[in-house]
Amino acid sequence: MKVTVIGAGYVGLVQSAGLAHLGHTVRVGESNPERLSLLRAAKLPIYEPGLEELFARALAHDLISLHADNHEAVRGADVIFLALPTPPDGDGRADLSILEAAVRDLAPSLESSAILAVKSTVPVGTNALLRRILDETGCSASVVSNPEFLSEGSAVEDFLKAERIVIGADLAADADVLRRLYGGLAATIVVTDPVSAELTKYAANAYLATRLTFFNAVSNLAEEVGADVTDVLRAVGLDRRIGPHFMRPGPGYGGSCFPKDTSALLSIAGDVGYSFPLLESVISTNDLQRDRIVERISSEFDGDLTGVKIAVWGLAFKAGTDDIRDSPAVAIGQALARRGATVEAWDPEALFADFIAAEGPLEAVDDADLLLVATEWPEFLRIDLAEVAKRMAGDMVFDARNLLDPDAVRTAGLLYRCLGRPKA
Ligand code: UGA
Repeated sequence: MKVTVIGAGYVGLVQSAGLAHLGHTVRVGESNPERLSLLRAAKLPIYEPGLEELFARALAHDLISLHADNHEAVRGADVIFLALPTPPDGDGRADLSILEAAVRDLAPSLESSAILAVKSTVPVGTNALLRRILDETGCSASVVSNPEFLSEGSAVEDFLKAERIVIGADLAADADVLRRLYGGLAATIVVTDPVSAELTKYAANAYLATRLTFFNAVSNLAEEVGADVTDVLRAVGLDRRIGPHFMRPGPGYGGSCFPKDTSALLSIAGDVGYSFPLLESVISTNDLQRDRIVERISSEFDGDLTGVKIAVWGLAFKAGTDDIRDSPAVAIGQALARRGATVEAWDPEALFADFIAAEGPLEAVDDADLLLVATEWPEFLRIDLAEVAKRMAGDMVFDARNLLDPDAVRTAGLLYRCLGRPKA
């Protein structure tokens, strides 16, 4: 099958390399010249475990070709995936201008039997909107919704071992084409109408955001009543109806998806007059989680951070990625800096120019009054805590991810603070 992917961003790259791995020939259309030359040299502009190898292999076997001209990329294609950005506009809605412009531009070059598959996360009704654009231009290609469920840091595995593939199509024949395309995967294929597929994507992300926000609130409550959240969550998660996933206490969700998608779903609800106070509360409660951590750290210095040096381990919004978009680690570090602290940070992959960049994790803690663990990188577990204690000026470790072993921290002669475990 001849496949095209428009947009070599995070989603487009995983989709192209994944489909090539399944044996398809994939043409990739990308308008950014720097990105294109990087990709031609089999280098990726993002850090994603396993992706560079998968991409390089596909390139070496001529299963992927790169095109600066989207028209050239779509010529003769059976299925064209649109993996273009849909950033939030000022009101939290997804901005569709890039997607709309691409469809208008590509319409004359599409085969009449081609299928446009929308990978980007788009508001409910977008497939219908793109259908109208194609009709206006006299193009009879189909439009289907095929949302992605990739998590940063495990995207390759999420593609190759997908649990489900959702295909929102008006025509059964179009759904069958995509079903064949993904035939090499063991995933359950769910075929729906386009609107249901579009809503599925938002429902999944908003539910996960709601769930982890709920358990962060339980963790805060554990702190107040003197319970141990680790024990509480283990016991709660053993209920089959609840399960153990997505309940790790932390500084709240960040990244490029949950913040954007929760706001977008709220706008979608608002547009049809549906009031969704639960989701409003999730969004505001998530912000409060960052504030709570800043307050707790600040109170360790009697509310005055002037001249205090804070070492931050972790900048990425979660482990396994170099992405700092809406990262709680960055937001908390910035809030501490606004209150007068000097912040020196180290992350195995991510960078943030506003903080002092440490050479390594031990250099970061040199003369620090407090060490904040802000991202749950497993690398942090292998750092010599006795050396950390020797280098620090102060003696406090604030573990905002409940990552470290409290006993190991104490054995090194340091004080340990974490979330929801006042006695740990
Ligand atoms: C998320 C979804 O998990 C993917 O299924 C979806 O495809 C993707 O968004 C998307 O829409 O593109 P991602 O943002 O990469 O993926 O990362 P997650 O692993 O879901 O983490 C999101 C946030 O929740 C992070 O800030 C993470 O630290 C936080 N989190 C996660 C917790 O605070 N506690 C947990 O137990 C789990």
